[in-house]
Amino acid sequence: MPTSEAWQPTFVGEGQVRYYSLARYALIEALRLAGVQPGSRVLLPEYLCRDLLAPLHQLEAVPCWYAVAPDLAPAMPVEDWPAADVVLAVNYFGFPQNLAPFQAYAERTGAVVIEDNAHGYLSRDQAGQWLGCRTGLGVFSLRKTLRIPDGGALWVGPAYTTSKLPTQKPFNGPGVNLAQLTKARLRGLPLVGESAYRLSTLMARTLRKWRTGSNVPAADPASEQNLPASANPWAGLLASLVGCAAPAEIERRRTAYVRCATVGEQVGAVPVFTALPPYCAPYSYAFRGDAVALAGMRRHAANHGFDLVSWPDLPTEIVGQAPVHYHNVFLVNFLW
Ligand SMILES: Cc1ncc(COP(=O)(O)O)c(C=O)c1O
Repeated sequence: MPTSEAWQPTFVGEGQVRYYSLARYALIEALRLAGVQPGSRVLLPEYLCRDLLAPLHQLEAVPCWYAVAPDLAPAMPVEDWPAADVVLAVNYFGFPQNLAPFQAYAERTGAVVIEDNAHGYLSRDQAGQWLGCRTGLGVFSLRKTLRIPDGGALWVGPAYTTSKLPTQKPFNGPGVNLAQLTKARLRGLPLVGESAYRLSTLMARTLRKWRTGSNVPAADPASEQNLPASANPWAGLLASLVGCAAPAEIERRRTAYVRCATVGEQVGAVPVFTALPPYCAPYSYAFRGDAVALAGMRRHAANHGFDLVSWPDLPTEIVGQAPVHYHNVFLVNFLW
């Protein structure tokens, strides 16, 4: 099996990479490298999953917020953003965030920009630059692109490689979500694979609904403080990265997106992004819409073996005052 010294994904380039079980562990290290200490202020988009607060909590950093417009770009001019030591730019759903306002903010205030590319492994911007490697520090949630039990990564650009980088933790983590391994194996079975996969998913959801009353995992407020399991990456992570045929996977995602967009137009879904930029490897088709649009996209997703979910589980501090456009986004997730 390759080791981290022997093999690097293409995106690493001039930088260095460290692997973790989750992007949240990578974010803890990114924040440390950015100089975050107890009391440091970290500027986050309001449109975010609540579990992203746990890395800040672990470091006793203080979150502050910038509003996000319906197209998921910052809603306010940078002059109006609150003061912070670090700012997080998110490439939502694998689409490149325009970094110009973040760079302007960094120049004006001296804040460090961390690129949250949890959704965008294999995705590039229109200039062909790998997402997650466009500022000095980037984080990836590889498990969101590949069906593996866990996998996150920290990318450290040349500007930071003279800093004291954390050593690579051993690849011996137990795997945060081992069910993904079973699902991937089922799906890989010849002939019966897809049916076996769908049956097992249906059974798991029915069982969950029977136990908890909902067929999706319950929101957990404690995830704003705690990280699950260990930081060590799962033993099979590097082999899975090596085994992923990146050009085919990017093409598969782009094709799935175009098909979703075509169906979306027919059923009245409103895509969050108006176009699929060149080189973008989308994590999902993100849309808003009424009950008819939702039913149409749900049918399409089910027919193609994709999950349809609403995103995100907003932080407690935001959820009560969130505008409608934070609450009404659905994703057809292309994880296979
Ligand atoms: C934008 C964003 N960043 C980071 C993360 C954290 O990823 P992980 O679950 O691998 O820690 C998530 C997960 O939901 C996310 O949506």
